Amino acid sequence: MALKTWNPRSVSQYIPLNISRKEWKRGDRRELMKRDLMERYKPHYRRHPYLKKRIEKNFDDFWRFYTSIYGDGYEQQRWIIRIFNSILQGLLDRKKDMLQLDQEREKNQLWFQSEEIVGGVLYVDLFAGDLKKLREKIPYLKELGINFLHLMPLLRPRDGLNDGGYAVQNYRDVDRRLGTYDDLRKLSRVLHNEGINLVLDFVMNHTAKEHGWAQAAMSGHTRYQRFYHMFDDRTIPDMYENHLIEVFPDFAPGNFSYYPQIDKWVWTTFYEFQWDLNYANPDVFHAMFDEMVHLVNTGTDCLRLDAVPYLWKKLGTHCQNQEEAHHLLRAYRALLKILSPGVLFMAEAIVAPQEIVRYLGVDGFEGKECDLAYNATLMSHLWHALASENTHLIRTSLSKLPRAPRNTSWVNYIRCHDDIGWGISDEFAADVHQNGHHTRMFCTDFYTGKLANSYAEGYAFQRDYYSGEARVSGTTASLAGLQKAMVEAEDLGIDDSIRRIMLLKNVIFSWKGIPLIYLGDEIGQTNDYTYLSNPLKLRDNRWVHRPRMLWDKVDLRDMPGTIEHRLFSEFRKMVDARKRTPAIHGASKDRLVILDIDSIFCFERCSKHQDTLFLSNFSREPVHVPTGMLPEKWQKRHFRDLYSDRVLDFSFNEIVLEPYGFYWLTGTNEKPSIEAENTIIDVIVETEFGENVYLVGNIPELGSWNPDKAIGPLDPSSYPSWEIHMKLPANTYFEFQWVKKRNGQIIEWSPDKYWMKSGDEISYY
Ligand code: GLC
Repeated sequence: MALKTWNPRSVSQYIPLNISRKEWKRGDRRELMKRDLMERYKPHYRRHPYLKKRIEKNFDDFWRFYTSIYGDGYEQQRWIIRIFNSILQGLLDRKKDMLQLDQEREKNQLWFQSEEIVGGVLYVDLFAGDLKKLREKIPYLKELGINFLHLMPLLRPRDGLNDGGYAVQNYRDVDRRLGTYDDLRKLSRVLHNEGINLVLDFVMNHTAKEHGWAQAAMSGHTRYQRFYHMFDDRTIPDMYENHLIEVFPDFAPGNFSYYPQIDKWVWTTFYEFQWDLNYANPDVFHAMFDEMVHLVNTGTDCLRLDAVPYLWKKLGTHCQNQEEAHHLLRAYRALLKILSPGVLFMAEAIVAPQEIVRYLGVDGFEGKECDLAYNATLMSHLWHALASENTHLIRTSLSKLPRAPRNTSWVNYIRCHDDIGWGISDEFAADVHQNGHHTRMFCTDFYTGKLANSYAEGYAFQRDYYSGEARVSGTTASLAGLQKAMVEAEDLGIDDSIRRIMLLKNVIFSWKGIPLIYLGDEIGQTNDYTYLSNPLKLRDNRWVHRPRMLWDKVDLRDMPGTIEHRLFSEFRKMVDARKRTPAIHGASKDRLVILDIDSIFCFERCSKHQDTLFLSNFSREPVHVPTGMLPEKWQKRHFRDLYSDRVLDFSFNEIVLEPYGFYWLTGTNEKPSIEAENTIIDVIVETEFGENVYLVGNIPELGSWNPDKAIGPLDPSSYPSWEIHMKLPANTYFEFQWVKKRNGQIIEWSPDKYWMKSGDEISYY
């Protein structure tokens, strides 16, 4: 049999087959198919020498997952050849610099696990105006240290309502308001030259109903009607509905929409204008792969795969996280490893904690599915810990979940463009003696400002009619209290909210994965209410946390004393600290360290270069952690705090954390700088004639709690305030009490203990 080789330029829909029915029936189909493909592409091996090896390496995976969905009937050959023809076409179109990067990354597949990687996400129009103007903002992104940039959907959406760009009308064109396809390619080149990786959305669960396929379906074309899930009456939709949830019950109730033009019900999980694709049809698999290839060739480094839990529908289930959805992703993963091994898959699967991690390929599928996934579990549990000042739930939930496989990583975030769903499982809540429903209700109530002690300014999103549970919208700054404190001109409230923001960020910057900054957080952008005057946004309060970037505020980052300056400097400091902490690399071994203190979240990460202990205090009060509570190797007095890059001295075997404070500690033999710092302490004590006030505390300079060695008397010149000026070793945290003496005898101790840091000036009233 003479083999026919394929010339991509003359390809037509008809694909001649080389393997006979007889051979197919009797032989090893996988091997036959693989050999056939390798033979077909022979003429291209000279220009693309890696192609053969990549097919050899990845074909078996592709075959296994693809055929488990579509079977291995004789006709599948044609689909498979079409799919591989798309790869070849993609390779022929792929630019030289991308081909080269692919090859480099094949040798360094885990490049994305580096501690150097810092992510950012933005809407092109809201941040810069359009793609061209975004180029002008690259210096700002670099100043902040961002090198992994997710641009929110920018392919051509339908006109009018389009779910923030997640209703794509044409995958091969760019939203005209943002620019052209060429602008996108150019931007990708410029970003690469500046060392910034580009992440783009691939909206794979649905197209807009204005997409060419949907339009053809609407005009009665049966091939394209099979691209979607269409039903003649409500019988089957009703059977499905019994088990489905509603994603947008407020503005898109139900999961099916009726179209009188064709007299059919169409599956629409999200908005009515977003039609779910029917992946049970191999035509859809291939067509979407073709779109993927095209997008990959813009020069993106990572595809954010939107809404992947919904890809597969199965009657009698809630049609999320089905095994077939995972197979689809694995089949696509194997294919892209042949075309563009440098391009990552990032799963957007905001589902139950136990389900999210499966998108990283656990249970034998390690490295075969997505490379990255949003860590929605960490995100929602961090907000819960902050509101409750209690870390039992976050610790328990994280300790019960399988780890991200070695060759994958998390995308860790505090806020993104979507609402916060309280992904707190009933089972994990029960483990800490809580009721899941009540805990989720508490989170919503707290962050929508319904509870007396709440500082948050958030809004309920899509309240569930039956349970009363709701997700929450609001920017980081507004949820952390900055908006309220600014309106009430409360300096202490402003301090606290900045501490809260940085506390949350500190975890996402140090936990395994890529931290993702929602651009605007670094200058404390609060809620934006202008969406209320836009009829296209008005009903969807997620727009409240998608503010236009306020560049006047950005300019204030250089002006000491402003909120923008304080926050921006802290962000910068955190980016720098991450980049110089080797234990943050994804290859480190990590484990939670459970301490018997409610508000402390602690974990250890060990790399071959350095071990680091990360401690965070979720309480509004200072907390003392006796070093005796820590694993033995951490029972030290001197540490280097990698965050502030200073040597700290915790005398008296206690680590003192400020309210909402945190440390990234590593052991050190260095002594703290002996340079002394002026410290002023002021206490208010009412005394009688002949009585004096002294101080006693946990450091030698304050007598190491020995009342005979208390220092004083303090200066009463502005009675009843007693003051003392001392020189204490720099960066020392200490505790103290005052004592009242008459005739050298102690007659009273202060009812409270106080704490502070050398170099500060504090009045205790
Ligand atoms: C994803 C997006 C969200 C969108 C939905 C439907 O969850 O993040 O914004 O509404 O998909 O496309």
